[in-house]
Amino acid sequence: MASHGAAKPETLRPSVRRAARVLLLGLACIPALAIADIDDSAYDTATQRTTSAARRAMDQQFERERKLEEARDAREREEAAASAAARLAELAARPYPVRLLESRCTACHKAGHYMEQSHSLPGWWFVVLRMKYLNDAELEIAEIPVIASHLTTIRGAGGLVAVLEYAALPALLAASLLAGGWFRRRRVRARNVIEDRNQ
Ligand code: HEC
Repeated sequence: MASHGAAKPETLRPSVRRAARVLLLGLACIPALAIADIDDSAYDTATQRTTSAARRAMDQQFERERKLEEARDAREREEAAASAAARLAELAARPYPVRLLESRCTACHKAGHYMEQSHSLPGWWFVVLRMKYLNDAELEIAEIPVIASHLTTIRGAGGLVAVLEYAALPALLAASLLAGGWFRRRRVRARNVIEDRNQ
């Protein structure tokens, strides 16, 4: 037993030494592994080296740039608002008939489309009346002459068109009176029917 026990350290010692060597070798490899693991592109070594003073300077620089950018944005917004206001003022400063024509006719037509034709004054009256009574354009009665005469100024027609349109006036007048009478009769009749039904 004793000899067996004494022999054991004898046999263990070389293996312990071997294990220690392996361990040391392993430890010696760690720095190499660690170095191999460093990926330069993954780390901003320049930033890592900066001192706190340099970092503060950089922060201040960022802050300055942010403020400049904000100021620029604010200036751009102001300029946009100013030019929009100027544009509105410019539009509002145009003569009344121009504004009226635009506001009343662009509800349905693309701007300018209604000016493709040329008519004499009665012709434009007829167009504008047609817009009001047949197409339900929102127009005050008092606005009709303003629009018609403005359109005649900018898109007037002479010659044959004017002759025909003036010649058509009495016929149109008669037709509109007749039509007006017919509408009124129909409305009265419809009202009577409703009243009859309600009684
Ligand atoms: C509520 C919608 C509406 C409004 C507002 C309106 N129009 Fe019209 N307009 C029409 C329709 C729908 C037609 C096509 C049917 C017709 O000729 O009546 C038309 C046709 C026309 C035409 C004939 C185009 C062609 O090729 O023959 C002219 C010119 C015209 N409009 C001028 C005007 C003018 C000027 C105004 C402003 C006073 C105006 N319109 C406002 C609906 C409108």
